[in-house]
Amino acid sequence: MVEDRIKENNVQMYSQSKACLDEWVTHYQSYSTYGQTANYIPALRTINSSHLGICIIVPDGTMIKSGDCEVSFTLQSISKVISFIAACLSRGIPYVLERVDVEPTGDAFNSIIRLEMHKPGKPFNPMINAGAITIASLLPGESSQNKLEFLDVFIEKMIGKRPTINEEVFRSEWQTAHRNRALAYYLKETGFLESEVEESLEVYLKLCSIEVNTEDIALIGLILAHDGYHPIRKEQVLPKNVAKLAKALMLTCGMYNASGKFAAFVGLPAKSGVSGGIMALVPPSVRKELPFQNGCGIGIYGPAIDEYGNSLTGVKLLKHIAQEWDLSIF
Ligand code: DON
Repeated sequence: MVEDRIKENNVQMYSQSKACLDEWVTHYQSYSTYGQTANYIPALRTINSSHLGICIIVPDGTMIKSGDCEVSFTLQSISKVISFIAACLSRGIPYVLERVDVEPTGDAFNSIIRLEMHKPGKPFNPMINAGAITIASLLPGESSQNKLEFLDVFIEKMIGKRPTINEEVFRSEWQTAHRNRALAYYLKETGFLESEVEESLEVYLKLCSIEVNTEDIALIGLILAHDGYHPIRKEQVLPKNVAKLAKALMLTCGMYNASGKFAAFVGLPAKSGVSGGIMALVPPSVRKELPFQNGCGIGIYGPAIDEYGNSLTGVKLLKHIAQEWDLSIF
């Protein structure tokens, strides 16, 4: 009886939330003209910049979707959270942290400046390119294929399907990755890169080119919200301490050099990618009177990005949602 009433209340709450989301998505979609698609990657120049979609997944598997939530896009920097977790799983946290730190930089994601300014040139964190390229080099396997296979298996464990790579985006990035190549050569010279430059770059850029939709990243967000426990499959898919570390990095470094503002005004661990994706999460809370207090994963896609490389419409939408539903962790 009590369970039936809870179920009924939830159904009502989710349909009200869906109505709110539809209204907010339509409203914030109109801001897409203030942003631009990531035009430094030729294959991303031509995508429809007016899209905006969201998927929220709660622990019982219920999904609340709105807008252009089914459009697929490439993971880009959201892959940095996944590769960091995978490196910790295979090498252990201490080994990884000897090679990549956990400090925000306040610089652009592709900046090279701190590598030379702070000896011995250890990347500041795994959410910037220098850190993520180093992480790619640490993944297990003697070739880029083996390294990617390890990641594929791990991603399949979380989202229930094998990821595919958008070859057009990969080729486009590979041909224009001059700054990333410079970072990789610098890291090789300083001894932080464990694999060869080209192999590390291939792994890094292929991970950026994995195709997902809002549902996939919302599901990964949900798993992290529950400290690595997959509440739908009812299985611990990554250790709690690794999940906690990944969330701390998302909060402090996940939104590039706008991470401080995002923590202050949205207050949720999140990771963005330049294709316009944002993976965010709400940990379970003790207050139960508002929606989503049992925690949820949030996937957003809005390819019009701002000056930092974050989805302009996506950040506005998330800020609104977090305020309306009091979701900030602070
Ligand atoms: O390294 C690049 O340029 C991209 N493939 C990664 C893009 C991204 O989302 C920004 N990175 N932090």
